[in-house]
Amino acid sequence: MTAYKKIFLLVAFLFSTTWAQINAQTYAKNGMVVSSDKTSSEVGVSILKKGGNAVDAAIATAFSLAVTHPAAGNIGGGGFIVFMNAKGKVTTIDFREKAPLAAGPNMYLDENGNLIADINHMTAKAIGVPGTVAGLYLAHQKYGQLPWAELVQPAIDQAQNGFVFNWSLNGAAEYFSSEENESEFMKNYFKNQTGEIPEPGDLWHQPELACTLILIRDKGHDGFYKGETANKITAWMKQNGGIITKKDLKKYAAVERNPIQGSYKGYDVYSMPPPSSGGVALIEMMNLMELADFKTMEFNSASHLHLVAEAMRRAFADRAEHLGDPDFNPDIPVDKLTSKDFAKKRFAEIDINRASVSDSTRFGQLYDGESTTHLSTIDKDGNAVSLTYTLEYSYGSQMGSSELGFIFNNEMGDFNPQPGVTKSNGQIGTNANLVAPEKRMLSSMTPTIVGKNGKPYLVIGSPGGRTIINTVFQTVFNVLEFDMRIDKAIEALKIHHQWLPDQIIYEKNLLSPDTRKILEGMGHTLRERTNMGALMGITYDSEKKVFTGASDSSQPDSGAVGF
Ligand code: GLY
Repeated sequence: MTAYKKIFLLVAFLFSTTWAQINAQTYAKNGMVVSSDKTSSEVGVSILKKGGNAVDAAIATAFSLAVTHPAAGNIGGGGFIVFMNAKGKVTTIDFREKAPLAAGPNMYLDENGNLIADINHMTAKAIGVPGTVAGLYLAHQKYGQLPWAELVQPAIDQAQNGFVFNWSLNGAAEYFSSEENESEFMKNYFKNQTGEIPEPGDLWHQPELACTLILIRDKGHDGFYKGETANKITAWMKQNGGIITKKDLKKYAAVERNPIQGSYKGYDVYSMPPPSSGGVALIEMMNLMELADFKTMEFNSASHLHLVAEAMRRAFADRAEHLGDPDFNPDIPVDKLTSKDFAKKRFAEIDINRASVSDSTRFGQLYDGESTTHLSTIDKDGNAVSLTYTLEYSYGSQMGSSELGFIFNNEMGDFNPQPGVTKSNGQIGTNANLVAPEKRMLSSMTPTIVGKNGKPYLVIGSPGGRTIINTVFQTVFNVLEFDMRIDKAIEALKIHHQWLPDQIIYEKNLLSPDTRKILEGMGHTLRERTNMGALMGITYDSEKKVFTGASDSSQPDSGAVGF
């Protein structure tokens, strides 16, 4: 079975077992955390109650998710933070994984120059140098308030003392016990010390992960990138065909970057710059939407969805052409792509009655991993954090050292694997995102904060590979244009168009047959899927000083917790 098929089965299984409940919105006055696991949101809130700020709460929640939500919560992967302080100043922290020093553009090819199947997804050579601990540590050094150790300790407690094994984890454990699974590490990953997989409701203990977290608690950044943890990571790499060395770990540094900034009808929209493509594409689509008159259209009518899909098509074409790691591509035309003038030109190309045709002779769009996770935090002063991080696939590379207790990412699969080769299956070969030593792979993660009058108004993000950009875009659009409550905006129908393949994917049962027919009549190809994204959002009414949070019903263990 190919890696894609295996991951598809696992993700489909997890969603099929979890599509059940609506997580209604929660209100609070003093602070709020929304994440994929309610117990981790509670950890974040306990930090706010101790006097920690939104950054502290985000760090503690992220470490906790590495314990409670290991499909995507991690210390072995990477991600991005967008932070708006109470005065409205916005910055970002880039802790995306990097290619190891020994990596290169031809590393996934055989002697004939052909791509070796799955090598960039499901082998140790797919593992990028992890960035999460460096990113959380940098965020703390620059913007945290409470001592670092206090932020890591709750995750240690959860790993050491155990936490309640939920149905989603049980579903994954069953999958990894089945014959479909080829990973020895994952076969044992969920077992308690008795050698049994916990039943839902039992406690699950992770003593090896607790030991790794203790080193991070006591030594900070160096507790991961140097000493015992680094020695164990590199010993594992040598034994398993990985190429990450001690030098790679020592050299890894998270980077603070200016956000991508745009506006929509008086709101300020801030999101992640390259190496994420999320912010640029989001602003381009919001600019296009600003040019349309949605007052004359019914919500989610064919006319509305046609315009949304055409905006997506164009933003994803520009993404494929231009975006990659800015440290290796200094000429990315970010200002142009996010400008109102460029949107006018792009908007003029849209026929309001007819689907455009994506030019498949240009650059394709490949499947990429959808198992990322997002958390949003806000504190009583109005500081807000939007944090998205990932292992790439669900449970990443599905590899790890049993001595360390955490899972390595397979993020190298987000690079273009074969220089110059673009195929009809969607493989891209453009230069901006080819592998190079120490380069960061292009991401779709779109942690976003919308500001109103210099205060956070909406804090939002989602997992979902390339669908992230579009689910975040539609949720932001639902709140700003249609004045929708955050829970309704999260639950509303989402569609996805990524230029190539030239099709609209829509969430099952949420698009009426009549609307489908009209869209098909306009020339769109439609394809349904169960669900898209798992949005975690907070809105803030700064006049009444009320926070409203909601998490996506597709993740029943998720939760908005306030106080
Ligand atoms: N690995 C998914 C992303 O970074 O977009």
